[in-house]
Amino acid sequence: MSRIPIVIDCDPGHDDAIALMLAAASPEVELVGVTTVAGNATVDKTTRNALAVLELIGRTDLPVATGSDVPLERDLVTAEYVHGATGLDGPEVSEPTTRPHELGAVAFLAQILATSDQPMTLIPVGPLTNIAKLVAAHPELVKRIERIVLMGGSIGLGNITPAAEFNIYVDPEAADLVFRSGIDITMIGLDVTHRARLTSDHAEQLRPTGRAGAFVAGLLDFFVANYQRRMGFDGAPIHDALAVASLIWPDLVKTEPFAVEIDTTDGPSAGRTLVDRYHVTGREPNARVGTSVDSERFAGLLLERIASLD
Ligand code: RIB
Ligand code: CA
Repeated sequence: MSRIPIVIDCDPGHDDAIALMLAAASPEVELVGVTTVAGNATVDKTTRNALAVLELIGRTDLPVATGSDVPLERDLVTAEYVHGATGLDGPEVSEPTTRPHELGAVAFLAQILATSDQPMTLIPVGPLTNIAKLVAAHPELVKRIERIVLMGGSIGLGNITPAAEFNIYVDPEAADLVFRSGIDITMIGLDVTHRARLTSDHAEQLRPTGRAGAFVAGLLDFFVANYQRRMGFDGAPIHDALAVASLIWPDLVKTEPFAVEIDTTDGPSAGRTLVDRYHVTGREPNARVGTSVDSERFAGLLLERIASLD
């Protein structure tokens, strides 16, 4: 079975960190590189966090390229209220000894796409600013993108506003460009990620399994308490890891083709993914959208893979 070459574009972030670890632990995919973007925290922090997580799991061989520090047009909105001041509050995180790649994220992605011997799958799990810039600056490389499996949006309610999910809300213009690009898009939104949760029981299962497991347990200690306090959830949704998992185990998340439009107004629904669930617009579908998930199986597989790291 050949490994699927992927690049993860992220804003670590607790769930981004777990997504990186899942990818690194999974033989089904080949994590070729990581790009960072401002979102959960400023891009200096998300980059530091990505470097630190990869060093913790012994993967300093993986390049991390720093991306956009602000959205295409709007002011940056960050999520310290979810991820803390560092973007990765909770466990001790040693300062990384490695530095980011000399290329910025867009140039790095362009180089990878232009030189790889096979098309690349991109997994953006933060605001889509880097991906939009890549598509706008390098239309000739779009054919080198096998598909985009993104965490973002929702058919139903939002999480940063009643209407919008955070990644799309931060940069609606970028999301609009990506969803209009014609690239094969899978949208893993809140409708499925809110059901892909890890609990404090899962943290206790992971804690004794080794350095990686203990680290994720520390992330969950913070993240589970945050979701309980803010949203009354029993368990924290590991949004970004579900995007990666849906590529590794395609039957984990059921997806259906829908037309998706992005609200780029400044109104109360700014950043909403308008998913034409009942095909009322007559528009051609431009994304496969997650509609259901095997939550138990996701949690079991994720724990197994994290525990296998070390
Ligand atoms: O809305 C959840 C998404 O926003 C996740 O990717 C989380 O990491 C934040 O980036
Ligand atoms: Ca994220």
